[in-house]
Amino acid sequence: SYPAQVSIVEVGPRDGLQNEKTPVSTQSKVELVHNLVNAGLKRIETGSFVSPKWVPQMADSSDVFTRIKRHKGVTYSALTPNMKGFEAALQAGADEVAVFGAASESFSQRNINCSIEDSLNRFAPVVEAAQTAGIKVRGYVSCVLGCPYEGEISPTAVAEVSKRLLDMGCYEISLGDTIGTGTPVKTAAMLEEVLNWIPVNQVAAHFHDTYGQALANLTIALQYGVATIDSAVAGLGGCPYARGASGNVATEDVVYMLNGMGIKTGIDLHKLLHAARGISNVIKRPPSSKVANALA
Ligand code: HMG
Ligand code: MG
Repeated sequence: SYPAQVSIVEVGPRDGLQNEKTPVSTQSKVELVHNLVNAGLKRIETGSFVSPKWVPQMADSSDVFTRIKRHKGVTYSALTPNMKGFEAALQAGADEVAVFGAASESFSQRNINCSIEDSLNRFAPVVEAAQTAGIKVRGYVSCVLGCPYEGEISPTAVAEVSKRLLDMGCYEISLGDTIGTGTPVKTAAMLEEVLNWIPVNQVAAHFHDTYGQALANLTIALQYGVATIDSAVAGLGGCPYARGASGNVATEDVVYMLNGMGIKTGIDLHKLLHAARGISNVIKRPPSSKVANALA
């Protein structure tokens, strides 16, 4: 059976914009976050405290956090790969942070410049400091359904990293199909293994839609009881260290599907489309979602 309710984590302002070549002004990012809140989103990944040399588009995350008008009941989160990032996030007032590892050695090297083992050693003090500060930490695992450098990734590799992040103190593990190569049967096999290691209520599905498989894969995840879904408004995005990766599954496509399944999200589709059009005008590209096109 499907969950009655799904919590959507909107990653557009971070995952969606991090790889965007057009410079997006701080003000436009702030407006995007405001529009998303207005549409009913309660969890918004607002920025990323990473090296500005690696990801220039996120260099103004501190300013974005400082300038957003906070809305009660909304969690504004940020990526923090190390202590330097965590301290900046804390300073900027992030409500929640995320460490991001991978199930693939090669991807870990290219994305965060260290091995999986070293990454876990860097995350541990972040998790500890966050707990001391009363801030929850999410753990991402990339390449759960394939790696741009290694190809197939074993479900056991995904489960092992997920379990270690959970044991370290992450409250939720977001399983990333970073390059969107997953298909439904593969998704089922991956979840079958991961859910032997960690509880389903601590799992989120973070699927990219490169091959148009994300909604099909999400249906499988929902069947397994996953009730947290990451998505990006207008289908924004890609990954700078995963060539060919297109955006996250579009939030409006997910909401449309969940509405049709009678699954509650608390999101107003029309206000969400307003947010999609706003940011699409800024980057001068139409939304990649089916729903935005259908309702244009
Ligand atoms: P490094 O070069 O190994 O780190 O990078 P370092 O500690 O040796 O520092 C090198 C320089 O970076 C120094 O500056 C540091 O101060 C600076 P310099 O002395 O050269 O001027 N630095 C920082 N600056 C700002 N904030 C920081 C920070 N840390 C060091 N936190 C590092 C390691 C992780 C920093 C680097 O590799 C990096 O920033 N990588 C970017 C990774 C990234 O953002 N990737 C995209 C997000 S992950 C993703 O999209 C996947 C996900 O969506 C899930 C999925 O789809 O699978 C989450
Ligand atoms: Mg991603």
